[in-house]
Amino acid sequence: MTRRTLIAGNWKMNTRRDSAAALAKGVVDGLSDSTDVEVVLCPPSVYLAAVEECVVGTHVALGGQNLCAEGDGAFTGEVNAAMLTDIGCGYVILGHSERRQLFGETDADVSKKLHAALAGNLIPIVCVGETQQQRETGETEQVVREQVKGSLAGLDEARAAGIVIAYEPVWAIGTGLTATPEQAEAVHAFIRKLLAEDFGEDVAGQIRLQYGGSVKPANAKELLGQENIDGALVGGASLKAEDFLQIIAAA
Ligand code: 13P
Repeated sequence: MTRRTLIAGNWKMNTRRDSAAALAKGVVDGLSDSTDVEVVLCPPSVYLAAVEECVVGTHVALGGQNLCAEGDGAFTGEVNAAMLTDIGCGYVILGHSERRQLFGETDADVSKKLHAALAGNLIPIVCVGETQQQRETGETEQVVREQVKGSLAGLDEARAAGIVIAYEPVWAIGTGLTATPEQAEAVHAFIRKLLAEDFGEDVAGQIRLQYGGSVKPANAKELLGQENIDGALVGGASLKAEDFLQIIAAA
């Protein structure tokens, strides 16, 4: 089963209008025409329009960092799937550990968002991953199992193949610590086994699994070389066009 490599940049709450546009242009201009890697930029929602202007008609796709599962209405401060699609998004990151830890998102919330994303024709990138303490106490598989099963609750086989899961160990996010390729591959293989339980081997073999957590030009090749690692969700290194392009090239 060949899975097309997916490299996404999660800009988190960084950039301003000008730097967002410059970064997007830098990525678009530096991307080789012949690349078969799928590239997604996920800027802060207020800059989606500015980035969309830079990537429209190019190889580079646009993604949101979150969505509200509700339809239009009285939900002050929120942005829904229809709005993300309207502004040109093809993807949305869901259940990032920062959303889970800082904004109290639960697996049930993520599952609702997943269904809203799919109904809105967005490709969801569902994030899972254990904390340092959970790894140290040997709970990694249990935590990842709960997050995968909970976040994907109610998902049917027909739609499952099109989703993306990002394994982002919390201890590796923004810390400079990276899971070793062996550590990351072990969890990715475990996630694929979980997916096979629910959706069958064939569908599980089509679902792309990204690794995230201090992915850098220096470690990207080895991580992306693992059998079950089909891409990367990049934070800090996606804020420099040159570094992000090197990660894409490594893929
Ligand atoms: P860093 O690449 O900065 O560790 O962030 C990873 C991440 O959280 C991407 O979603």
